[in-house]
Amino acid sequence: MGKVIAFSNQKGGSGKSTLSANLSVLWSNSGYKVAVIDADAQKSLSYWLEARKSYYGEDDIGITQLNFDIRNLIDEIKAIKRKYDFIIIDSPPSITFETMQVVKASDRVFVPVQPSPVDLMATLPFLKIAKQERKNPIIILNRVMPRAKLTDAMILRLRYAGAKIARSRLSSKVLFAETFSVGRGVVDISVTSDASKEIINVGNEILRNF
Ligand SMILES: Nc1ncnc2c1ncn2[C@@H]1O[C@H](COP(=O)(O)OP(=O)(O)OP(=O)(O)O)[C@@H](O)[C@H]1O
Ligand SMILES: [Mg+2]
Repeated sequence: MGKVIAFSNQKGGSGKSTLSANLSVLWSNSGYKVAVIDADAQKSLSYWLEARKSYYGEDDIGITQLNFDIRNLIDEIKAIKRKYDFIIIDSPPSITFETMQVVKASDRVFVPVQPSPVDLMATLPFLKIAKQERKNPIIILNRVMPRAKLTDAMILRLRYAGAKIARSRLSSKVLFAETFSVGRGVVDISVTSDASKEIINVGNEILRNF
């Protein structure tokens, strides 16, 4: 049965599309059947898929895009879930009806966040909603700068708010932006780069949380 994974956060620019693209490439290149759903009206992931088709050829991108009417998302996913190993949903940066459909349709919700106090605190309302829906939301810290430390106080506040934070993190690397713009993922280029090691770790940690 396919695992339905959403990357969601109402905070814009936190890394939802970057994680959606890179994990779909990771699992597809590892031999799994992967589908993606772009639930964001900005359509960044759809542009990424178009660029991927230009790069690899229309039928050789290794990833299926599913275009569902957001109003029927839950039923549509149920109907096709068994055809894929992973269904990855890229969410809009909002807490709207669309986002709620994404959360409800998913088995697990992962929440990319840039590790600034403002971004983390702005994420708490979304975590609360995902928890109410029993999706075991887990924060994935993204664009972590070398030597930048989350203060203990901040981590404590998050823990008190009931937030779970993944051990695996993504650092700020231009490779993530460069590969995205040409329809690729970091593991397409080399599986041994630092960026790829981070994506592989995130992928493994996601699987451990099922
Ligand atoms: N780890 C990273 N290192 C460097 N650049 C990154 C990283 N993660 C994301 N970016 C860049 O930051 C920008 C925002 O990332 P992304 O589009 O993944 O966020 P998003 O949450 O999907 O945004 P939106 O809310 O607008 O949909 C993009 O230009 C992306 O290439
Ligand atoms: Mg996006």
